[in-house]
Order: sequence, then C-alpha cells, then structure tokens
Amino acid sequence: MSPRPILIIPDTRLRQVADPVPSIDKEIGTLVEDMFETMYLAPGIGLAAPQVGVLKRVVVLDVAKRRDEEAKAEPMAFINPVITWASEELSTYEEGCLSIPEYYEAVERPAVIRVAYLDLAGAAKEIEADGILATCLQHEIDHLNGVLFIDHISRLKRARVMRKFEKAAKSRDYEDSRPSSRP
Ligand code: NI
Repeated sequence: MSPRPILIIPDTRLRQVADPVPSIDKEIGTLVEDMFETMYLAPGIGLAAPQVGVLKRVVVLDVAKRRDEEAKAEPMAFINPVITWASEELSTYEEGCLSIPEYYEAVERPAVIRVAYLDLAGAAKEIEADGILATCLQHEIDHLNGVLFIDHISRLKRARVMRKFEKAAKSRDYEDSRPSSRP
C-alpha cells in the first residue's frame, strides 16, 4: 500500500467522467487500498478515484470518526455506485473536499438516499444512507461525474474560490519552472 498524490482544482482530471469498473481484479484491490491510505493520511472521510487521477468509478469512505473521534475505523468501498432513490427531504451540511483544501461551504442535498454498488468481492449490494453518510456518498459519486461540491453553491462563491486556486496553481507552476539557485 502507498498513498497517492491528491489532485487539487483546477486540475482538469477532476472534471472528467469516470469509467465503470468492468471487473474487480488485483489492480482495483490495490487502488482501493491506496485510496484508503491516502484518505486516512489526509485526513479525510471520503475519496473518489478521480481525485488520485484514476478515472474509474471507485469510492472509499469512513464517516465513523466524523460522528465520534474515539470510534473505530469503518472503511467502506463502493465500486460502480449508483443512486437508485433520493428523498424529497433535504439536509444541509458544511462540506469540504480534499481537492479544494481548507474551503468549506454549506450544501443542501437529499437527506436519505439508496445506493446500489458492487463490494470488493464483486457482490451486488444496496444500502440506504442518511445523515453524514448520505451527504458523503453523494459528494463522492458527484466526483465520478466530474462534479464538485462547489458546483452546488452560488456562482459568485464558486468563481471566487476557483480564482483563488487558479492563482495558487499559477504561482506553483512559476516556482517549478524557475531554475534552482542551489548547486
Ligand atoms: Ni471531494
């Protein structure tokens, strides 16, 4: 297992639609292990494969610690997750994203959802999720479609955060392109 670098906006790979996983092979097993390690190290409560530059429909999450700091880890992996039902009732959570570091904003989403997916053994499963798990699953499944949580906030706020990260990316590129002054 090894952690992988997390892509930061405005990386265009975060805006692409990920491909379904045709079969759960060793490569997917390694990807999931690496994604868990990357997520726990960050630390974060969810991660989608496109965030580590892999355009496959794979999501990992663990919301246990979000509920209770002392809680034991509850790693969950979802292959090809699909939302099959969403409640009319909405709930609002302050969301963040490892690809948009240190930016948080309230997002309204369906409060309860059902998600069909494959587990790591390739078995078809369905879960009903509410609370933070419902929010987190919707946030991560959005990633598989190139959608970010800032797409759910006002255009003005989104433009502001995009500008900030575009500027930061430009100065990173500038630093990288400078000849090193060290011998
Ligand atoms: Ni995210």
